[in-house]
Amino acid sequence: MSELSVRHLLGIKYLNQKDIDLIFETADHFKEVLGRPIKKVPSLRDITIANIFFESSTRTRLSFELAEKRLSADVINFSAAQSSVKKGETLIDTVNNILSMKVDMVVMRHPNPGAGIFLSRHVKASIVNAGDGAHEHPTQALLDSYSIREKLGGVGGKKVVIVGDILHSRVALSNIFALQMQGAEVRVCGPKTLIPKYVESLGVRVEPDLRTALQWCDVANMLRVQNERMDMSYFPSTREYSRQFGIDKALLESLGKEIVIMHPGPINRGVEITSDVADSHQSIILNQVENGVAIRMAVIYLLASQIK
Ligand code: CP
Repeated sequence: MSELSVRHLLGIKYLNQKDIDLIFETADHFKEVLGRPIKKVPSLRDITIANIFFESSTRTRLSFELAEKRLSADVINFSAAQSSVKKGETLIDTVNNILSMKVDMVVMRHPNPGAGIFLSRHVKASIVNAGDGAHEHPTQALLDSYSIREKLGGVGGKKVVIVGDILHSRVALSNIFALQMQGAEVRVCGPKTLIPKYVESLGVRVEPDLRTALQWCDVANMLRVQNERMDMSYFPSTREYSRQFGIDKALLESLGKEIVIMHPGPINRGVEITSDVADSHQSIILNQVENGVAIRMAVIYLLASQIK
């Protein structure tokens, strides 16, 4: 049987091309399951998973919970806001208390980059990173590539531009690693202040002009401006940002070709994309969300098969 090369999913940079192929093949199977009248399989009846979220989430949290339940795992959910973390309990104490209840796998979102890596060195359970600060969001990048593969027939050779707040984005970094591993070409576009200096050292070209970037690409992945991670002003105003780095219908139609529009969510409608672009036939935003369940089922299933 094929196995992942890792025991935890901490970031795309720890995977290889064979791992991604295996996750996609497994997700293909689960996508077929999700299309059946009974969308549940008994694969993980003996596995208990804790979803521990120290940051807010809608898509990732619901998608993991649904994926776990579709695999028949037992699921417990922990939200830091309503927990003893508020009374000063440390991350390791919190997780070890949860693990003492015989938990096999921990899905964690945390504001600190590297929190999952730290945890994986101190606890016995398999750890899945559901987003760690501005570091990585591996399942988002996997579902993004999977959605490109579904829409365009493959990822290799495709041109993808990631637009917006690259500096604060774990989605950008994980996407860069995942896309390049599969042979796609990646560029980034956004305000100079929101493009990290190291990005070119990753083999990513910076394109300052949005129209030029869109004329070049097959796919535009539009990122949200992460105001909650900003400690200063990175551009003059939201209005100016959307004029320079937002896509509206007029801009999309003026390209003279069709490109695929993606967004990891949550969308700030009217800032990075207008509603008519978000809801257009070129947008695969809801396909990304749908595919997230199959991808997370695949990741959990493959990691759990190493626990047994
Ligand atoms: N894409 C994503 O991570 O969305 P949430 O923050 O809602 O989970």
